[in-house]
Amino acid sequence: MSQQSPLKVAVTGAAGQIGYNLLFRLVSGALAGDRPVELRLLEIEPALKSLEGVVMELDDCAFPTLAGVEIGSDAEKVFDGVNLALLVGARPRGPGMERGDLLEANGAIFTAQGKALNAVAADDVRIGVTGNPANTNALIAMRNAPDVPASRFSALTRLDHNRAIAQVASKVGVPVTEVSRMTIWGNHSSTQYPDLFHARVGDRSAAEAVGDDAWIVDDFIPTVAKRGAAIIEARGSSSAASAASATIDAARDWLFGTGSPGREDDWVSMAVASPGAYGVPEGLISSFPVRCTDGDWEIVEGLDLNDLSRERIDASVAELVEERDAVQALGLI
Ligand code: NAD
Ligand code: LMR
Repeated sequence: MSQQSPLKVAVTGAAGQIGYNLLFRLVSGALAGDRPVELRLLEIEPALKSLEGVVMELDDCAFPTLAGVEIGSDAEKVFDGVNLALLVGARPRGPGMERGDLLEANGAIFTAQGKALNAVAADDVRIGVTGNPANTNALIAMRNAPDVPASRFSALTRLDHNRAIAQVASKVGVPVTEVSRMTIWGNHSSTQYPDLFHARVGDRSAAEAVGDDAWIVDDFIPTVAKRGAAIIEARGSSSAASAASATIDAARDWLFGTGSPGREDDWVSMAVASPGAYGVPEGLISSFPVRCTDGDWEIVEGLDLNDLSRERIDASVAELVEERDAVQALGLI
């Protein structure tokens, strides 16, 4: 039996599609190994009955590392003392919608949750936002939680990062484990920029390993950037299992560190509050290459950006500025 204190993990929208794919893995070791995990699950009142069913299933798994589950619709009660908050609950987009269409519908959720986290979360809290539009929702939560350091907020671009790795591995014909130093820059939206010029396949530049610049521009970048829409088109609803998996990958690396044996200096993509790096205005939640150690992230500095990269990053950041201005006009920040 483990003697470690439980990691208190809040999940919002826990009765939703991503929630159903996330909770079981969160408490079966994918996040924190053998450290016990206590779940705090937030839902809106009408979804609580369905969430009770999910809790029955969690019980029925008899996970040795599940240290307890609390559910509720009051954010201040559910977030009390949490070390990690995964903000998933939000309305997903349907066919034909852009993520920006969700700004108003979902913005209000993140003002309330930012305030609640500010009031009751543990001093060491880390907050990962999956609910869309993820970058701007994270900005809203961050700005409504003035006592929580800005560095504790992140929006999920790890799904895009994983998608980019899978596309390159398939193109070059190597296992995904051969692909490293992938970067998604900018917004988790169709303007995002997946960068193959700093990524590596084995010991080579990924762009060189691909050897086909037209494929990068005409195939790779749009495939990764529009993958969410392609899944909605095919499934009739947005990605859930892959989004849950990426949510865990991102949280695990943030809390316990990036890199792997033999690739200690590898990095991942996280959307974090810009310190002004790479020309991204300070305070915008934009995706960067980051390395994490013991719960802290650091942007990888000093990468040279070619003209294509500069142009694409600027376009995605311009969209983030527009989203920020829109939520400012709505009084959400
Ligand atoms: P879903 O509709 O199946 O579930 C969302 C859940 O959130 C519902 O159960 C709903 O009751 C709950 N909810 C709504 N308002 C809430 C509130 N104020 N507090 C707590 N819970 C609330 O949707 P889903 O498929 O699980 O997707 C959730 C979000 O994740 C969507 O915004 C979706 O677009 C986004 N998403 C992001 C990524 C990413 O890579 N960043 C990937 C996939 C999906
Ligand atoms: C995704 O990337 O799959 C999600 O953000 C869902 C969406 O709206 O695209």
